[in-house]
Formats: sequence, C-alpha cells, structure tokens
Amino acid sequence: MTTKIAIFASGSGSNFQAIQTAIENGKLDAEIGVVVTDKPDAYVVKRAENFGIPVFSFVAKQYESKADYEQEIINILKEHEVQWVILAGYMRLIGNTLLSAYSNRIVNIHPSLLPAFPGKDAIGQALEHGVKVTGVTVHFVDEGLDTGPILSQAAVDVVEGNRSATEAKIHALEHELYTSTLQKLFKKEIKLFH
Ligand code: GAR
Repeated sequence: MTTKIAIFASGSGSNFQAIQTAIENGKLDAEIGVVVTDKPDAYVVKRAENFGIPVFSFVAKQYESKADYEQEIINILKEHEVQWVILAGYMRLIGNTLLSAYSNRIVNIHPSLLPAFPGKDAIGQALEHGVKVTGVTVHFVDEGLDTGPILSQAAVDVVEGNRSATEAKIHALEHELYTSTLQKLFKKEIKLFH
C-alpha cells in the first residue's frame, strides 16, 4: 500500500525534489500529500508548486507557542491523511505536540556522520574540524537536536580546501540515501529501533 507522507523543509528543497522524482520513477512507493514550510519564501515552495503538491506555510512568530503552530500542522497532516513526517532541511526542533501525534513516525536527514557535528552548518563544522571523512545520516526524530535512533549512514571523502565540491558530493549522496532508506522503512525491511 502506498505510504502517504509530508515533507517538512525550510530551504532549497533538493531532497524534496529527489523524493518526488523517486516516487515518479517508481523507486519509492509513497505519495507526498503536503509540503510544510516555516519559510514562505523558500525555494521548496516553488518546487512543490511545479509538481502541483499542496504547501502549508506558516510563520512561527505569528503563533503564541510551538504547541499552537504544531497543532495547526497536525490538523493539516490529518486532512491529507499523512502517515509519516519526513524532515528534509527543516531547521526547527520538533516539539512534544507533533512528536506525540506522530510517535516513531518522524524521520530526518542530516549532512554528517552523527553523532558528529549536529545542528546548523554540519558541513562547515566538519571542514572547520579538518576531518577527512564525513557523510550523511538518516535517523528517527526525538526531542533532541539531530539525536534519535539511526536508520542509515553513508560516508563521503572530504575534498580538501573545496567546500562546494564536498557539499555537492554530500547532497548527491543524501538524495540517494534518503529515498532508498525510506523505501526500506516503508516496506518494513529495516528494524525500527536498535
Ligand atoms: C540538507 O543537506 C539536509 O541534510 C540539511 O539541510 C539541507 C537541506 O537541503 N539538514 C540539516 O542540516 C538538519 N539538521 P535541501 O533543502 O536542498 O533539501
């Protein structure tokens, strides 16, 4: 049965695009019901519109609390019968309201080999540290910052002194790893927890 998902994103949305393309090419048995963004001007909005996928944009500071905007998001997710929440460059911590509504049904991708370099600009952190190998992690979301049980990881050799080349390798790997991990997860081919 096709899995109904929502993509949460705050930026360019290249992972969103890779997931939608994998769906269209029959590599991922899923359907994106809605894209949720906290950045109404983000490029992901344009990409979603190009595919004819509904977008829910919100501005966090227009709500009294995280619980308030997350409750509104939950209403939208239920309207679209969303089963899994897929974070793809969504730069906000998920709060208890959404975590309990989608318990063990929220997944994130992060551009490092966690637990190394959590948080913002993981690629910059890795380069700054001088590591020779970095990578990509797909993991379940809990209340922490890029914590939660790891589903898959893959490594990338750093291109020394060349941030954009390193970034390009990481993004290409993300697109591949995210779609293949989601397919295994939805087909119950990977165990949920360690
Ligand atoms: C991706 O590299 C993703 O791993 C990262 O944001 C980028 C979004 O790119 N996420 C995090 O850093 C989460 N902590 P995209 O908008 O092109 O998909």
